[in-house]
Amino acid sequence: MTGTVPVLETSLSGLKLIRRGKVRDVYAVTDEHLLIVATDRISAFDCVLPTPIARKGEVLTALSRFWFERLGHIIGHHLVTTETEQMPEAIKGYGAFLSGRSMLVRRTEVFPVECVVRGYLAGSGWKDYLREGEVCGHRLPKGLRESEQLREPIFTPATKAEEGHDENIDESRMSALVGLDVTETLRATSLRLYKEASEYARSRGIIIADTKFEFGRDSTGSILLIDEALTPDSSRFWPADKYEPGHAQPSFDKQFVRDYLETLDWDKKPPAPPLPTEIAEATTARYLEAYRLLTGKEL
Ligand SMILES: Nc1ncnc2c1ncn2[C@@H]1O[C@H](COP(=O)(O)OP(=O)(O)OP(=O)(O)O)[C@@H](O)[C@H]1O
Ligand SMILES: [Mg+2]
Repeated sequence: MTGTVPVLETSLSGLKLIRRGKVRDVYAVTDEHLLIVATDRISAFDCVLPTPIARKGEVLTALSRFWFERLGHIIGHHLVTTETEQMPEAIKGYGAFLSGRSMLVRRTEVFPVECVVRGYLAGSGWKDYLREGEVCGHRLPKGLRESEQLREPIFTPATKAEEGHDENIDESRMSALVGLDVTETLRATSLRLYKEASEYARSRGIIIADTKFEFGRDSTGSILLIDEALTPDSSRFWPADKYEPGHAQPSFDKQFVRDYLETLDWDKKPPAPPLPTEIAEATTARYLEAYRLLTGKEL
């Protein structure tokens, strides 16, 4: 059973809220475990919208779980369970509300880098390339077009900025933050994860243009894949049948939202305007479709 009422914000008494992100609310459960709740919030142009996208939190949770399991032979992950009946007592009471949208995870010490892998030239990678001909120290051939596939995927780490935008860094700056050994491990692991996931997704009609992984170290010293994995929120998903380099690609999940917002006279600063019901419903349908295409199952 999953909750059918959209959830914009959670407030779970008895648990300590340690972070409210744009989409997810994170609670401390014990010294060893966290609860990550994916709400139905959506952001566009870096602003959280006041309108929930029903079932989005479920899609993010189920997709992360799908990938953690599928890629578990490459690296261990933090997920303990998504089943509220198997969670500690303090959480069980909220079962109906949290069901389907929550992950109990092993708590780790997070490495302070976003491990981005790019197979295509888009977003800040495209901007860096236009300006400097390179991305995070990777010199690229001249004359590449926007959204063009790279000959090989590249590892393009970024700092985790508390405020504002993450900054792309090269591997020497990453090494200064986490050490050379960890840098090499995270780079090799991120590339393997991306290659395997993107080949699989491509066979299901979705291009994963780029994605961001996070890693942490658990209390036993092991490095784990943490956070969410290969969701539309942490990646650029493009419909493969519409792929055409030379311009920006339609976003698999948020295109209706962005197109609608572009028709308004809104300065892209908070507060963001609400979405009409039909735009919100069409967006829910896109998230569910991404899940169905990737997993071959209905959620
Ligand atoms: N296993 C873990 N141990 C410790 N911290 C974790 C773990 N998994 C995820 N986190 C942290 O939880 C936080 C998730 O919240 P975050 O603010 O990123 O939410 P979000 O919904 O992705 O919003 P935003 O778009 O603002 O990033 C991140 O800081 C991430 O590093
Ligand atoms: Mg985040």
